[in-house]
Amino acid sequence: MAIEIEQPSVGLSRVAISNTHGEDSPYFAGWKAYDENPYHEEDNQSGVIQMGLAENQVSFDLLEKYLEDHPEACSWGGGAPGFRENALFQDYHGLKSFRQAMANFMEQIRGGRATFDPDRIVLTAGATAANELLTFILADPGDALLVPTPYYPGFDRDLRWRTGVKIVPIHCDSSNNFQVTPEALEAAYEHAESMNLNVRGVLIINPSNPLGSTVQRSILEMILEFVVRKNIHLISDEIYSGSTFSPSEFISIAEILRDRGYNNVETERVHIVYSLSKDLGLPGFRVGTIYSYNDKVVTTARRMSSFTLISSQTQHLLACMLSNKEFTENYIKTNRERLSKRHETIILGLKKAGIECLKGNAGLFCWMNLSSFLDEPTTAGELALWKIILNDVGLNISPGSSCHCSEPGWFRVCFANMSEQTLGVALERIHKFMEQRKNLSKVNV
Ligand SMILES: Cc1ncc(COP(=O)(O)O)c(C=O)c1O
Repeated sequence: MAIEIEQPSVGLSRVAISNTHGEDSPYFAGWKAYDENPYHEEDNQSGVIQMGLAENQVSFDLLEKYLEDHPEACSWGGGAPGFRENALFQDYHGLKSFRQAMANFMEQIRGGRATFDPDRIVLTAGATAANELLTFILADPGDALLVPTPYYPGFDRDLRWRTGVKIVPIHCDSSNNFQVTPEALEAAYEHAESMNLNVRGVLIINPSNPLGSTVQRSILEMILEFVVRKNIHLISDEIYSGSTFSPSEFISIAEILRDRGYNNVETERVHIVYSLSKDLGLPGFRVGTIYSYNDKVVTTARRMSSFTLISSQTQHLLACMLSNKEFTENYIKTNRERLSKRHETIILGLKKAGIECLKGNAGLFCWMNLSSFLDEPTTAGELALWKIILNDVGLNISPGSSCHCSEPGWFRVCFANMSEQTLGVALERIHKFMEQRKNLSKVNV
């Protein structure tokens, strides 16, 4: 910055100075450590390996091949809309061809077991914007959303910071693989009430609560019945729906609503969030959607999406790509197989090192249990181990406490944002670290 001004003399808004942005969590501190010394297979072999970033890079070759074979997706000639038309396009409804392609893609991911009406799809700049926008629409500042733990650390920013809404955790634990129980739901609701908070909804990640396992049908139905009974909303963040290793194991809330005959009392309060950041590995494209069964929510979300539109150029490219059924079918299948293989590699590699993981069947990470290796069974103990793994082992993983996990010793480990070779190096490092610890504990006996 060329102009130096003495800081600070002039006040800023409450939002600007509030610390509900959540960026002071170890989740982001670990990213910084990686940025300062990033591992590189040739140029920096002692650097930090980034295992805290839920990116999907395993199927880039398929996307690149599509673009090579279909130059029309990125050009303005032929049957594509002309440059001028695209340059001027800013309708918040989005390109009809793109909404249709998104609806089809969302159906395909669910094996055709749910249908989506393109007119109910609201386009947003990623799931980040979709979640914030829904929070703005469903809750007032000071109201609360109930969210099962552990949850994606970004929610602290997306749901709270600008909206002024509070997150009340639904505490889940390892005794039942971190599944939401009726008791935990009720306890969270009562806890919110005891703080005089007005609960406006429940937000779940499906699949992937906690970050890697599928939410079962019976649990989804139980949550649906709960929100009806309490007269509140249900947001189902289905950003990992195409990243389930076995397609039949993912049950969308859309499928449940269909099976229950689209009962109005249920549908009017259900809103689905989706994005192409994970399944298609395109977080930089910033493409998300809200799919709501509530007309008023659709209309309001569309109006609000003016603040967070997707560029017409991106819409055009993805409309072409996602309406090519041959491509999408092959992509969804191959991507699933590759993620599943990666997952198997990391689970086996960790097992060999003496580490157990939570059984998971979706997502871009596993949930690793190091609770028996903590010096003390507290958040401080967890963070002490996290620092050792970051600084001495050179792996940035996310401590469970940054995901609001109520049990110390769990860590989220991403496996799809690197090459197989780098994953091998990461596993070797963990193995060596565990051996050293074992030897050390023998000496101390
Ligand atoms: C559960 C969940 N929701 C939302 C997001 C944000 O995704 P996007 O890149 O589409 O904004 C993430 C990203 O990690 C996530 O894990």
